[in-house]
Amino acid sequence: MNSEQLKRQVAEAALQYINDYDMVIGIGTGSTVNHFIDLLPNVKNRIEAVVSSSEVSTKKLISHGFNVKELNQTGDLSLYIDGADECDGHNRLIKGGGGALTREKIIAAASNQFICIVDESKCVDVLGKFPLPIEVLPMARSFVARQMVKLGGQPIYREGFTTDNGNQIIDIHNLKILNPVDLETKINQIPGVVTNGLFAHRSADVTLIAQSNGNLQTQ
Ligand code: A5P
Repeated sequence: MNSEQLKRQVAEAALQYINDYDMVIGIGTGSTVNHFIDLLPNVKNRIEAVVSSSEVSTKKLISHGFNVKELNQTGDLSLYIDGADECDGHNRLIKGGGGALTREKIIAAASNQFICIVDESKCVDVLGKFPLPIEVLPMARSFVARQMVKLGGQPIYREGFTTDNGNQIIDIHNLKILNPVDLETKINQIPGVVTNGLFAHRSADVTLIAQSNGNLQTQ
């Protein structure tokens, strides 16, 4: 199966978690989640509303006729479905390749169950091969970058990109993240950091992994 077929397969598998009526679910961002959104009309009768992690996903959800609510209107969510850029064997993730990490992290934290959907190319033993995105307030960009050099990373400014929150992203290359929980905390303590793309404190509860041989693994 090619990569789009794998994304479709794992997105389809996530539909089984929409197993109740009147659900209000969180929806992530990215090409895998786009497949999930396209499949969501199949279970529309079970969904009362959705909370979206980005303007891009919101547009797509509205085009399918879903009621998109603000998290402030809903309280905690029973379910959040999202992709990831990297996943380790403990369901700890790197996210933010699409730049939506902050809203994604908020929704993940506010959800009782976080189901992550990936294909096997995203699975790693140690996180860090994928550059770690950090959302920063624009005035703090260079300062945060210098702190990341001290932590052993090589920061690259994501030029020409502004997040949905009006901030900037720096991508940190060359990290070998042996303790993701510690690093997530450390980076978030740097003044000017909005958040970083490590999802280690709030990891996924379940990761569905589409394998190239056509099998689906649940981790
Ligand atoms: C968006 O900011 C990211 O966190 C995405 O969830 C992640 O990049 C996965 O995207 P793909 O499904 O496109 O690989």
